[in-house]
Amino acid sequence: PTIYAITPTYSRPAQKAELTRLANTFRQVAQLHWILVEDAAGRSELVSRFLASAGLPSTHLHVPTPRRYKRPGLPRATEQRNAGLAWLRQTHQHEPQRSQPGVLFFADDDNTYSLELFQEMRTTRKVSVWPVGLVGGRRYERPLVENGRVVGWYTGWRAGRTFAIDMAGFAVSLQVILSNPKAVFKRHGSQPGMQESDFLKQITTIEELEPKANNCTKVLVWHTRTEKVNLANEPKYHLDTVKIEV
Ligand code: UGA
Ligand code: MN
Repeated sequence: PTIYAITPTYSRPAQKAELTRLANTFRQVAQLHWILVEDAAGRSELVSRFLASAGLPSTHLHVPTPRRYKRPGLPRATEQRNAGLAWLRQTHQHEPQRSQPGVLFFADDDNTYSLELFQEMRTTRKVSVWPVGLVGGRRYERPLVENGRVVGWYTGWRAGRTFAIDMAGFAVSLQVILSNPKAVFKRHGSQPGMQESDFLKQITTIEELEPKANNCTKVLVWHTRTEKVNLANEPKYHLDTVKIEV
C-alpha cells in the first residue's frame, strides 16, 4: 500500500530546515505520497520550489487558519489536516472499494521519524497505534497492550482521553477514511489536546486498534520540537549584498 503523509506546515524561520529534514526521511521510504498543506492564503514560492526539487511524489495544498483560531492554547492545523483528508477522499472517490490500498498518517513537520515506523504502519488494516517519544511531559506515551489488544494508555497528561495518543502515534487505512466520509478534525467542542481522540472516536474503537512496534514497546517516532530561532541580531533592512535563499 501507498503511505499518504499529511503534513501541515506554516511559514517561520526554521520552516525550510524542518521540511528538508522531513524530505530526507521520506525519500528513503518506498511508495510514500507526501501531502503538504500550507497554513497560508496561497502556495508559497518557498514551499513550491522546495517540493519541486524534493524528489518525492507529492501534492501541494493550502488553506489559511482563520485568524480567530491562531491563539495559544487552541489546537493547531485543524483546517490543514482536513484539507488533506478532503483531497484523499476526492482523489479516490471513483475507485471501487479496496482497489487502491493505502495508509494515512499525520506527519507534523517538526517530529523525528525512524524508517522502521513506516514498515510498521504499512501493514495497518484499519487503525494502528504505537508509542510516541518525548510527549505529554514524559519520555514517552504508549498504548498498553495485553494479549495483542490495546487495553489502556500509559500517559501523564489528560489521562481521561478515550484515545490518549498524540497525532504521531497512529495510522489509518485509506478504506477507513473513505468509508467514514464525515470524519474530520473539529474546532467546536474539541478542547486543546483532544483533536486526536475526537477524530479517532469517529472512525474506530479501542478494541479494534492494531498495536505496532512490538506490542507498543518500541519508540519509533519522537515528538521533537524546534527551539524558537533567535533573530536578535537580524538587521531591520536587508543589508546583505545579494539575495539569499534561506
Ligand atoms: C502537538 C501535537 O503533536 C500536534 O499534532 C497538534 O496539532 C498540536 O499539539 C496542537 O496544539 O494542535 P506541537 O508540537 O505543540 O504539537 O505543535 P506544532 O508542531 O507547533 O504544530 C503541529 C503542526 O501544525 C506542525 O506540522 C506545524 O507546522 C503545523 N502548524 C502549526 C500550522 O500549520 N500552523 C500553525 O499556526 C502552527
Ligand atoms: Mn510539533
